[in-house]
Amino acid sequence: MADKRTKVNIKKLLKMKRDQTPVAWITSYDLPFAYVAEQAGVEMILVGDSGGMVQLGYKTTNPVTMDEMITMAKTARRGAPDTFLIGDMPQGSYEVGEKEAIINSLRFVKEADCDAVKLEGGKRMAPKVKAISDAGILVMGHLGLTPQSIHQIGGFGVQAVSNKAAKKLEKDALSLQEAGASCLVLECIPSSTAASVTKLLDIPVIGIGAGIYCDGQVLVLHDMLGLTLKQPKFSKNFLSGNDSIFDAIEEYVNQVKNNSFPSPSNSYE
Ligand code: KIV
Repeated sequence: MADKRTKVNIKKLLKMKRDQTPVAWITSYDLPFAYVAEQAGVEMILVGDSGGMVQLGYKTTNPVTMDEMITMAKTARRGAPDTFLIGDMPQGSYEVGEKEAIINSLRFVKEADCDAVKLEGGKRMAPKVKAISDAGILVMGHLGLTPQSIHQIGGFGVQAVSNKAAKKLEKDALSLQEAGASCLVLECIPSSTAASVTKLLDIPVIGIGAGIYCDGQVLVLHDMLGLTLKQPKFSKNFLSGNDSIFDAIEEYVNQVKNNSFPSPSNSYE
């Protein structure tokens, strides 16, 4: 299990990539779940805009506002004072311009004590990533299934399936790294493509539905506790067979650490 009280930082994350020590992330949006996640040993907590769906009841992540994200991030931080916390930039908080992207990233850092922010999109978002990074804030990318563009994508299916799309994803990943991204989330893509991107990049690559060959894993908390109506293929109900939420999250952390999660049945080929 992870060292519970030592907060990771970017140097440690890069070392974990070099040493091939998998990183365990989970999402949380409030104090009690963030508290349990920290106690159970997750290294990083993402206050995802998925909270708009699983916590606030929206149909997609699109309606989520900055103020809602800040409230969720502040409460998660109070529950997990010693865990690396990432604030997810909601749709509309970074696309319009670099200035807006910096102002909203700073809100996560100053109001919610976040350690980093995350935004969705490839090459076209590289100028925003650069602006946030130049402002001294750690910024993480997110490629593959990017739920904020769900209407453009046309559904929550597996992405980057053709060779052409896989090559484009590799180029997008490189442009985010060059722009100053410190980490990359890959969502819902074939394991082989995620493996190539993980090898290609110097920064840690964290998968959700991207197979076992990433540098770490993230799951949406409500999915892995069986609290969502439809369990995605890439997730697993860790509460089933465990007596408590603490045990469920601890088992998830252990399975990420010993490379037994995700299994092929939780991955796309
Ligand atoms: O919002 C979220 O929970 C996310 C994860 C799916 C990576 O972005």
